[in-house]
Amino acid sequence: MSKSISIAVVGSGYVGLVAAVCFAEMGHAVVCVDNDERKVTALQGGETPIHEYHLPELLGRYRNNQVRFITDLAEATRECDAIFIAVGTPQSETGDADLSYVEAVACEIARSLTSYKVIVEKSTVPVYTNEWISRALERNGVDRNLFDVVSNPEFLREGTAVVDFLHPDRIVVGSDSDRAGLLLKEIYSPLTSGEYYQRENCISGSCSVAEPPPLLMTSTKSAEIIKHASNAFLAMKISFINAVSNLCEATNANVEQVARGIGLDTRIGPKFLRPGIGYGGSCFPKDVAAFRSVAEQLGIDFSLLTEVEKINQQQKRLFIAKVRSALWNLRGKRLAVLGLAFKGDTDDIRESPAVEIVRLLINEGCSIAAFDPAAMERTQQILPAGKNMRYAADSYDAMSDADALLILTDWIEFAELDLKRANKALRYSIIVDGRNLYDPATMSEHGFTYVSVGRPIAHPVRNLTSSVIG
Ligand code: UGA
Repeated sequence: MSKSISIAVVGSGYVGLVAAVCFAEMGHAVVCVDNDERKVTALQGGETPIHEYHLPELLGRYRNNQVRFITDLAEATRECDAIFIAVGTPQSETGDADLSYVEAVACEIARSLTSYKVIVEKSTVPVYTNEWISRALERNGVDRNLFDVVSNPEFLREGTAVVDFLHPDRIVVGSDSDRAGLLLKEIYSPLTSGEYYQRENCISGSCSVAEPPPLLMTSTKSAEIIKHASNAFLAMKISFINAVSNLCEATNANVEQVARGIGLDTRIGPKFLRPGIGYGGSCFPKDVAAFRSVAEQLGIDFSLLTEVEKINQQQKRLFIAKVRSALWNLRGKRLAVLGLAFKGDTDDIRESPAVEIVRLLINEGCSIAAFDPAAMERTQQILPAGKNMRYAADSYDAMSDADALLILTDWIEFAELDLKRANKALRYSIIVDGRNLYDPATMSEHGFTYVSVGRPIAHPVRNLTSSVIG
């Protein structure tokens, strides 16, 4: 039976909140600390601030008992054995990560640290952050024997965060101290021993009693680099397939076939080879820039990452060019947009390529009717409704009398549209799909001109029967 450990999680953003409830689900006693009083009150009162599967269920189960939400970091520091720092590390103007929140937390911990604690970096941070945290604690008068700092990067994805946390591909613990390493091993033992997956009401996923997740122990610096290198590699995979998709378009080849052909090589793997309008979100754009900046500061030429970013930017411009070539002129066109979130299953619009494309199209003189199942409220805050921007009630309302339909986010419901209804709603039967959600042949049978990414344009089949288009 695994031991219950007393854990503090600092920060109640995506990573912090998910980590807090998942540690509770694993049997630990958790205090989640945030200096935003309104947020803490809302969490105490039962609000779920982010759109994430299983989160309402776990919050309902553990809120105000096994997970307490508080604002007092000193209290949390005194009570807990391990303090996970999960505060934001936003991108600074120079591209590198702004670590001022991490520093502020370290200094605050220092003020109330009186017995041995393990301080855990959970936020995505550049290599050497570990040393800076230690230095900050020592500068604030803390005895070096009273703490260890370890790195335990998080690999969860938005939308599947809870399942990713409880069923990880791997758990990475970077520790230069045996004592701290041991505590982290204990914290994760409900997962690594398989005990959690034996529970009747456990959240199901890819791990099991027979196949629990592996725990990789590394040095702290290696763990810090593993996080940045993982995100940079995944971003590179996406930019690579996007560049290949452009090559496919130029040659009339089909990128889906090419991606399958290369992904079947087990050394390459099939995942993260979906071409589209470029990666977005709060992680890849920021982490690629931060990793590049770290390399630069160390005098290492990692210009490969500059190319990754360049291709990613270009992908949005190429999408606009596709819309233009389908519609001739953009000025004055009414466009239906499905999707504003940076990917499906989330309400997050940070660095969303969809929102950027909408902005570019409005600048080109188009008027937009947009629908997203979860991200409209957030988008309205930065792109208010107005003459050229309407928020629709549903997908078909967005399409009503539009000159074309643009698909910008990979929500499942956008892949399951009633195509007859869509055809009736649209003024012209034109779809430009930035996420390749449909089979081109099916779209031509349904009477659409269908433009997607890295695949030949599909044109409507002539002599349409009324049974097809209704
Ligand atoms: C990403 C990583 O996948 C996580 O492992 C990591 O923990 C997280 O960043 C983080 O550092 O916190 P996330 O940003 O939630 O997770 O989203 P992803 O599912 O990775 O997608 C990122 C972007 O890439 C999205 O815009 C998505 O549409 C795009 N993408 C993804 C593609 O264009 N093609 C693909 O094949 C896959």
